Amino acid sequence: MTLSASLPIGLFDSGVGGLTVFKAVRDLLPRETLVYLGDTARVPYGVKSKDTIVKYTLGAAEKLREQNIKALIIACNTATSAALPTLREYLGSIPVIGVIDPGAEAAVRVSENKKIAVIGTEATIRAKAYQKAIARISPGTRVVSRACTLFVPLAEEGWLSGEATEKICEKYLGDIFADADAPDTLLLGCTHFPLLIPALRKVVGEKVKIVDSAKATALRARDALEAANLLAWEKSAPDRFFTTDNPERFARTGKLFLEGKLDEVELIDI
Ligand code: DGL
Repeated sequence: MTLSASLPIGLFDSGVGGLTVFKAVRDLLPRETLVYLGDTARVPYGVKSKDTIVKYTLGAAEKLREQNIKALIIACNTATSAALPTLREYLGSIPVIGVIDPGAEAAVRVSENKKIAVIGTEATIRAKAYQKAIARISPGTRVVSRACTLFVPLAEEGWLSGEATEKICEKYLGDIFADADAPDTLLLGCTHFPLLIPALRKVVGEKVKIVDSAKATALRARDALEAANLLAWEKSAPDRFFTTDNPERFARTGKLFLEGKLDEVELIDI
């Protein structure tokens, strides 16, 4: 298939978390038409095996290919860490952009004491995706990593602040940031986590830099499209949102991510 600049960009996540990346792409590239797919029927991916995550991700990529996308952004760290090479092979000439390398580069850029705490889902941390990316970019940087499994349901549920959420953040991260020698950077290695920043801030304090991959991924996508001569001149159609279960719930929670701007959500199966 011949790719053309007027075709949409596909974005995929296991649920609503990838909307944090969607927002960054929409802000940076307002002329692009975006098609988002959240696999809410199968979320969370982060506690599943690699084979299962790859299988789900391929199903989602196929659905987006049917929408004639010109590029795919995997707006999910778990799917990126498990399936990026497989997806690139599967989609052939369609550029595939993951969130791990852009996020790792952003964290390395801001860390002054060269100590970075990475948090993500169990699958992302188990795959050592960020640890490997940071070691490649900046071999001298020390990385502490932790799976924060409960953050995904908290974000999907819209429990973004309050006593219970802050206690859970403290339980996961309190010890990492307790001593004077602590990391100066917290890398959010899951696209759901930026929603919890106010609660996380209470645990890590004001000085720690909190980094996520959304903006860096949007920049990476722009560069990839530019290099392939695929940047759109004008928006060709309204953005579309697909979900594999319960569109009403997706719209309700999604509004928290997109700050009140979420149009119609369409139900599909993958
Ligand atoms: N948003 C996904 C990520 O960035 C994880 C959510 C899940 O566990 O499905 O890793």
